[in-house]
Amino acid sequence: MALLVEKTSAGREYKVKDLSQADFGRLEIELAEVEMPGLMSCRAEFGPSQPFAGARISGSLHMTIQTAVLIETLTALGAEVRWCSCNIFSTQDHAAAAIARDSAAVFAWKGETLAEYWWCTERCLDWGPSGGPDLIVDDGGDATLLIHEGVKAEEEFEKTGKLPDPASTDNAEFQIVLGIIRDGLKVDPKKYRRMKERLVGVSEETTTGVKRLYQMQASGALLFPAINVNDSVTKSKFDNLYGCRHSLPDGLMRATDIMIAGKVAVVCGYGDVGKGCAAALKQAGARVIVTEIDPICALQALMEGLPVLTLEDVVSEADIFVTTTGNKDIIMGLEAYPGVKRITIKPQTDRWVFPETNAGIIVLAEGRLMNLGCATGHPSFVMSCSFTNQVIAQLELWKERSTGKYEKKVYVLPKHLDEKVAALHLGKLGAKLTKLTPSQAEYISVPVEGPYKPARYRY
Ligand SMILES: NC(=O)c1ccc[n+]([C@@H]2O[C@H](COP(=O)([O-])OP(=O)(O)OC[C@H]3O[C@@H](n4cnc5c(N)ncnc54)[C@H](O)[C@@H]3O)[C@@H](O)[C@H]2O)c1
Repeated sequence: MALLVEKTSAGREYKVKDLSQADFGRLEIELAEVEMPGLMSCRAEFGPSQPFAGARISGSLHMTIQTAVLIETLTALGAEVRWCSCNIFSTQDHAAAAIARDSAAVFAWKGETLAEYWWCTERCLDWGPSGGPDLIVDDGGDATLLIHEGVKAEEEFEKTGKLPDPASTDNAEFQIVLGIIRDGLKVDPKKYRRMKERLVGVSEETTTGVKRLYQMQASGALLFPAINVNDSVTKSKFDNLYGCRHSLPDGLMRATDIMIAGKVAVVCGYGDVGKGCAAALKQAGARVIVTEIDPICALQALMEGLPVLTLEDVVSEADIFVTTTGNKDIIMGLEAYPGVKRITIKPQTDRWVFPETNAGIIVLAEGRLMNLGCATGHPSFVMSCSFTNQVIAQLELWKERSTGKYEKKVYVLPKHLDEKVAALHLGKLGAKLTKLTPSQAEYISVPVEGPYKPARYRY
C-alpha cells in the first residue's frame, strides 16, 4: 500500500484499508455501545460540559470496534483525536473506516508491515507545525517510546551533529524507529522537543507499557506525567483475566478450529493473562500445564489443580502452547531450524513444517497477540471497564494540566475512581449492592460511600 495520507470530504486525514466498510463498522459500533455502559455514562456525565474542548488526543491502541467507542467518547467530550493501532495485526478495518469517515483521523489497517506501522504511529502524533498532541493514550508504550527516542536523538544531534544510526542495533524494529527519527531530524530538528513541551501526559493501557514507564521513571528519563491504567483493579483484574478467558479460545478456534477438549495445553506465565487463558482451556476440556518463574504464581496454579513444569518437560507431549509472560525468548528457534518451511494457511495462521518428518506447528499471529490477530480481541463489556479508566485518566491529566499536581512520574488512579468504574457496570448485569449502615462502616473503618478497601488490598 502506498503510504499517502488521504482526506475525507470534511478535510480530516486518514489512511485505512477500505473506507467503504464504514457502514458495517458503524453497525457494529452501535452494537458495542450497548455493551459499554461505562463509556456511555461518561458521555452522559461529562458530555454537556465538554471538558476536552481544545484538547488534542493521540491514541496508539488496537483500532477495534471497542476502541472506536472509546474514540467517540473522547470526541463526545470535546477532544480532537488522531489514532493508530499498537499492533500490526489488531486493526478491524471496518472499525477504522467508520472512525475515519465519522469521527477522527485514523492511520491503521490489519496486516501492516513494521515500516507501515511506524509510519502510522508518526502520522498519529503529527498535528502539523504547531506541535504534537496534548495527551496520549498509549498501549504498549510505542508512541511514548517514539517521542522519548526522538527527543534523545535531537539533543544528541544538536550537541554533536550525530544522526541516529539504524545499524547501531540488531533489533529490526528498532532499526525502523531510528530510521524514521533520522529522516525526520533532517527536515525538522526540533519536532519531538516541541511535542514534549506541549504534552500534558500519557495514560498507558497495558502491563508491558507500564513496565517501560516505571523503568523511565527510575532512570529519570520520563519526559511527562503518566497514568498507569493497567493497574487499576478494574483493568488488569478484568480485561487481562476475563478478557483473555474469552478471547484466547476465540482466536484459537477462528484460526484453527481445532478441538481443545482432550488436548494438552501449556500456558507459559500464570499472571493475570495466564490465569484467564488457563481457565478457558481447562473449561474447554484441555489438560492444562503451567510454566512459571514466580513461586507465588506457581503455587496459585497448583491450587487450581494445574501442574507446574518447565517447557523442556512438556515440549514433546503438549499440543497447544500459549505464551502470556510479557517476556522474551520463551519458545524459540523455529525460524532458524534448518530446512523448516513456512506455509501460510491464511493471514495470521502459518504452518511451519519440519523437513525430516513433514510434521508441522501452527503459529498464530507470528507469535504476537493472537486474540487480536486471529479474533477481535476482548469483548465490549470488559473493554468498557478498561476504557472507562482511560477516559477518567485522560480527564484527570487534562483537568490538572496547569496545577502541577502531576510530575514526571507514573501514577495510578485513586481507589474511589476504580470503584466507580466497577459501579458503572453493575446495573447492566442486574446486580444490587448492599449498603453499609453507618455503624457497620465504622466497625470496618471505611466511609459509607467508599472507598471500601485500602490501597494495599489485592482482590
Ligand atoms: N492479548 C491481550 O489481550 C492482552 C491483554 C492484557 C495484557 N496483555 C499482555 O500480556 C502480557 C502479560 O500480562 P499480565 O498482565 O498477565 O502480566 P503479569 O506480570 O501478571 O504475568 C506475567 C507472568 O509471566 C511470568 N513469567 C515471566 N517470565 C517467564 C518465563 N520465562 N517463563 C514462565 N513465566 C514467566 C511472570 O512471573 C508473571 O507471573 C503483557 O505483555 C501484557 O502487556 C495482553
